[in-house]
Amino acid sequence: MTEHIRIEKADGVLTLTFARPDKKNALTNAMYGALADAITAADADGAVRAIVLRGEGDMFTAGNDVGEFAAMATGAFKGERHVGRFLEAIARATRPLVAAVQGRAVGIGTTMLLHCDLVVLAEDALLTTPFVNLALVPEAASSLLLPQRIGHARAYAMFTLGDAMDAPTALALGLANRVVPFPRLHAEAAELAARLARQPAGALSTTKRLMRNADVLMAQIATESERFTERLKTAEAREAFTAFAEKRPPDFTKLAG
Ligand code: COA
Repeated sequence: MTEHIRIEKADGVLTLTFARPDKKNALTNAMYGALADAITAADADGAVRAIVLRGEGDMFTAGNDVGEFAAMATGAFKGERHVGRFLEAIARATRPLVAAVQGRAVGIGTTMLLHCDLVVLAEDALLTTPFVNLALVPEAASSLLLPQRIGHARAYAMFTLGDAMDAPTALALGLANRVVPFPRLHAEAAELAARLARQPAGALSTTKRLMRNADVLMAQIATESERFTERLKTAEAREAFTAFAEKRPPDFTKLAG
């Protein structure tokens, strides 16, 4: 358990809130564990008919905690890693997932949206997947799903150059259902989830299964995870994490590929 994930259940809707605003909701191993447990339990809980993912403060999430990446890179991180369970939970979830995104959604903050069934963005939402900026590679089956959704050229620029996508563009390209002013964001997501919760749950979950092939997604996630884990240990990644900790731009120019 962690205080950084708030879990609320009411009227058939499970609301999971990233609640670490002082660190821009950067996701820690403990947070992935709590999210995985909650989403997996919801699948077996008849009282949950839809799930909302949201973030507290001015940002959805700044992505994976970079300090924990650094600890994994040096071997200082001990214990079970929960990110894989989180990815499996969102890839295999039978309940509809609704996301409410304000401010930045970095890395996994954006790639988890590809597993959400409805996405509401605040006008200031900014989606980024700067994996190569951190000397890493895409995850969460995004190397498959993002090019499918927005085309190869745009996905490549987002992955490799860290190009950001604003809310109107995300809406136009089919990454989101609607864009609303921030004060409306959480009510809008809650209303959509409440509408889904009133729909027939069996037809909802079968529709979701028809639209998403979880086994294909899990195979992609497994391949990405192998590459990602290798990349974490490279000199390039060490430079990226050290630069983040030292609040300076990284310099990769002296490192061979
Ligand atoms: N991991 C760990 N800590 C993070 C973090 C992350 N992903 N993102 C932000 N934080 C921390 C900062 O270190 C800072 O901590 P401090 O107050 O102890 O110094 C605090 O959150 C506030 O962040 P700050 O950078 O001051 O906020 P900002 O609004 O100026 O910038 C971001 C926000 C998201 C643009 C910037 O924090 C950032 O680029 N974060 C890293 C994103 C990233 O690369 N994620 C991994 C993707 S795979």
